[in-house]
Amino acid sequence: MHGGHKLSGTVNISGSKNSALPILAATLLTKDECVIHHVPDLSDVHFMLQILDHLGAQVERASGTVTVKAEKVTTEAPYDVVRKMRASVCVLGPLLGREREATVSLPGGCVIGDRPIDLHLKGFEALGAAIRVVGGDVKVLAPQLRGAVIPMTGKFGSTVLGTDNVMMAAVLADGTTVIDGAAEEPEVVDLANFLNKMGAKVEGAGSRRIIIEGVKELHGAEHEVIPDRIEAGTFMVAAAISGAEVKLRRANPAHLATVSQALERAGYRIQVTVNSLTVLGNGEPHSIELTTETYPGFPTDMQAQMCALLSRGQGISTVTENIFPQRFMHVSELKRMGANISLENNTAIINGVTALSGAPVMASDLRASAALVLAGLQADGVTEVNRVYHIDRGYEMIDEKLNALGAQIERVKVKG
Ligand code: UD1
Repeated sequence: MHGGHKLSGTVNISGSKNSALPILAATLLTKDECVIHHVPDLSDVHFMLQILDHLGAQVERASGTVTVKAEKVTTEAPYDVVRKMRASVCVLGPLLGREREATVSLPGGCVIGDRPIDLHLKGFEALGAAIRVVGGDVKVLAPQLRGAVIPMTGKFGSTVLGTDNVMMAAVLADGTTVIDGAAEEPEVVDLANFLNKMGAKVEGAGSRRIIIEGVKELHGAEHEVIPDRIEAGTFMVAAAISGAEVKLRRANPAHLATVSQALERAGYRIQVTVNSLTVLGNGEPHSIELTTETYPGFPTDMQAQMCALLSRGQGISTVTENIFPQRFMHVSELKRMGANISLENNTAIINGVTALSGAPVMASDLRASAALVLAGLQADGVTEVNRVYHIDRGYEMIDEKLNALGAQIERVKVKG
């Protein structure tokens, strides 16, 4: 990447990765065909389609539309497919709901810290499932699934995929399930809307209490995935960083309220319509204090990108990570580019510098790699971001989209 180019123009926001993955998993709940639109072309989505295929579903993809027909399903998702993506764990709920059993490899060590699935499993147990861990697999078995009241909050608050998983099992349970302390993220609402189109009876998604009336079976449905608020937020930061005017089309400003507020506090102006946002970059950020929280708070998935923005400028910013306290892999790489950041427990203390300098850096996870690209946009000279496969997991053609706005990024295959 050659830094220092102003970005301007319009960028189209893709469908949400974190909505598409559980919605694709939910297609396993019916024998009928489901048609999902606005599915982003990402490696995580390809992994999910591979898992569906392995489980016996017929999967077709034509540009942004995926058609899934899971007439018959097997109930075992193997390690070699599952290990590539932690979100594969969200096939547990639909398989349990439909077949009353499921075996999925336990997600392995994760680079953003210890990421247990204890709350998912507690939820399944409350519905009547027996859980066993054998040879690295988690086996969930419930000859009968019965609705229950399930408290789903853990040490770090609510769980997004845990809420999704339990909701997907409970839609086909006998009786009523109440998820207390449910995640309120827009992606949970999107999944609930899809489930309701399939004939489920889910109420309260988007609030802390979700009530699910079990039904006997679900049918096929057609659905369009919501826009990706994290991709949108990343482009908002790119616009702020580059100091020009960028319009995001097909975005949902309501889902980005806290990101907009954080950027406004840092001194940027944002114009909003029903489905677009325009960010007016005007120089260096003011220092701010930022804390990640569950939705509607500031998203952890935007924390690394904000660290990249706040690295430049005057004053001291603090960024506290409350969801994944160890999620700071980007900090050491940003420091290699000249950032002045120190870590105190789960808080990054960022002393703004006048300039960042290009350097070879290593991507470690999805959002950390986005932060490095954002740092490269503003750095003097050339930045080389290695292991960009991390970024392809969650950003559709980020290099092409940024280049269309005026960035200078080249994708190079490294030998060996
Ligand atoms: C989802 C998102 C991810 C985002 C995260 C938090 C997808 C595919 N991924 O991940 O991009 O960063 O939400 O917004 O949607 N926890 C437990 N026990 C559990 C489950 C979670 O203690 O059983 C903890 C986690 O370690 C973490 C916190 O709860 O500290 C929130 O995690 P969770 O909401 O479950 O994240 P994911 O759903 O995996």
